[in-house]
Amino acid sequence: ILPQYLKNKKVLITAGGTREYFDPIRYISNASSGQMGYALTKIAYAMGGDVTLISAPTNLKKPYGITVVDVISAEDMYREVIKRAEKADVIIMNAAVADFRPESFSREKLKKSKEKSVVHLKPNPDILKKLGEIKKKDQILIGFAAESTDVIENAKDKLIRKNLDYIIANELDVFSKKIHRGWIINRRGDITEIPEMDKESSAFLILEKIFKR
Ligand code: C5P
Repeated sequence: ILPQYLKNKKVLITAGGTREYFDPIRYISNASSGQMGYALTKIAYAMGGDVTLISAPTNLKKPYGITVVDVISAEDMYREVIKRAEKADVIIMNAAVADFRPESFSREKLKKSKEKSVVHLKPNPDILKKLGEIKKKDQILIGFAAESTDVIENAKDKLIRKNLDYIIANELDVFSKKIHRGWIINRRGDITEIPEMDKESSAFLILEKIFKR
């Protein structure tokens, strides 16, 4: 049995990579597997949290004891997260939300063609930035940052820009892998290293670091 650091806390977690469809079967997405978000969900539940998971498509099994809301696109996720944000004590935005979506959607499957074809993209709403703007007093807002260069500097910048309490920074190589490695950064700029370990252990370390009193 785990220490009950999240007892009586309503915890909202997002996971997976959103899909942005441009015809009934074709979409733009990313390599997120959802494993880190699902690991956080299981550990937060085991730590006593009342957990809701907003999940973009993954191949993972639904964790026991959790309310799971399935979503597909960034816009769906935005709607489902914002709807529940006010009641949440803790929000962990782990999902890899697509930054862009196709400008138009074709109800018919697009036909093959010998010509070059172009999909125009437009920006998606930044869910975490919005959460930072509407954050309530005493609410803990946690983001993730996957970076290919200047990992810690870029993550610190996001933490400030999006008004977060903590950001978990990692390199891109943990995407869709079983292992995680990274850094936990707080608003004062203190850094805790997460050595390489499986994602459930990393989830435990992250939640213990943030919620152990
Ligand atoms: O700015 P960047 O996308 O790298 O920030 C990553 C963090 O922001 C993650 O926590 C991710 O879940 C969140 N995010 C979001 N909405 C977006 C893009 C990213 O909530 N449209």
